[in-house]
Amino acid sequence: MTYGPKPWQTVCPAHELVPGRFVEFRLKEKANDPEGMPLTGFVFLDRGQPKAYLNICPHLGIELNWMPGRFMDADNLFIQCSTHGALFKPGTGECIAGPCQGDALTMLEVRQSDDTIEVRVPD
Ligand code: FES
Repeated sequence: MTYGPKPWQTVCPAHELVPGRFVEFRLKEKANDPEGMPLTGFVFLDRGQPKAYLNICPHLGIELNWMPGRFMDADNLFIQCSTHGALFKPGTGECIAGPCQGDALTMLEVRQSDDTIEVRVPD
C-alpha cells in the first residue's frame, strides 16, 4: 500500500490538445481494482487552459459519450451526456439541466509539464 500524493499520468503531447479537441484516456490506477470498472476521463481546453474530468455521468454512472471524442452539445456550449441529454458547464462540470441537475462531473487535477499533458489519478 502506498501513501502520499497520487502519481501524475501522461495523457497526450500538449501540442495535440488544440481548441475543440477532446482527448480521452484510461486511468491506470484502476487496473489494480479488478472488480471495478476501468475509469476513463477526458481532457480539453477550456478558454485556453487544460481541464479534465472523469468520463462518468453523475446520473447513472456511465460514460458520457457514444462517439469517440464527442462531448459537446449541438451549440458547442455545454458538455452533454449522450444518454439522457444532461448538460454540464465545461469550466466547472456543474450539471445545469437534465436528470442530475445540481450534481457535477468529477474534475481531475491536470497540468502541463514541458510538452506533456498530465492528470492526477483520483483517490
Ligand atoms: S446517464 Fe447521463 S443524463 Fe442519464
